[in-house]
Amino acid sequence: MKKVVAVVTSPRKNSNSEILADAFLKGAGEAGNETEKIRFSDHNIGFCLACNWCRSHDGVCVQRDDMNPLLLKLLEADVIVLASPVYKSCVSGQLKTFADRMYAINPKLTGVDFYFIASAGSADLDGAMRDMEGIIHIYKNVRNAGRIYGRGLSGPGEAFDSPAYEEAYQMGKGC
Ligand SMILES: Cc1cc2nc3c(=O)[nH]c(=O)nc-3n(C[C@H](O)[C@H](O)[C@H](O)COP(=O)(O)O)c2cc1C
Repeated sequence: MKKVVAVVTSPRKNSNSEILADAFLKGAGEAGNETEKIRFSDHNIGFCLACNWCRSHDGVCVQRDDMNPLLLKLLEADVIVLASPVYKSCVSGQLKTFADRMYAINPKLTGVDFYFIASAGSADLDGAMRDMEGIIHIYKNVRNAGRIYGRGLSGPGEAFDSPAYEEAYQMGKGC
């Protein structure tokens, strides 16, 4: 049994990237894995202060917001799913903020399979996928294990009718 954690970063209700992340988690759960979803919008998470306090404090962040307990969840995970809407051809500011705070555990996070999920109004998700590659680039012994492209999804909820939904479900089953 693996621990599968999805980081979901769209601020809106019935979000396409969240629907695809839920499909992934559904598949992963049905395959016998333990699943958990972290919704950025449910938490108080500030910007990285670049103070490097974490480097002399075993990966603990100096800020007393919600991030330290979430970092512990990431360190316990075997699989981490990053899910984001495409904003201005990039990942969401929320995912970037979350990823910057993962700096605290750069030296510690290892042995994880990462999956990327993005949704966009257009068919062009290359910028966001590149951003996600950049986010995991620093970690040792991690795998870029799979990607879900939610193309042509504008309004909330459209992901339910997208081929990406079944792809995400099957990818979760096999993760
Ligand atoms: C601020 C903003 C910027 C956006 N930028 C793009 C973009 O550059 N390219 C694109 O294809 N869609 C863009 N979109 C559309 C979203 O990517 C699309 O609606 C997506 O399905 C949202 O995912 P979500 O439902 O998970 O929030 C943008 C939407 C917003 C609100």
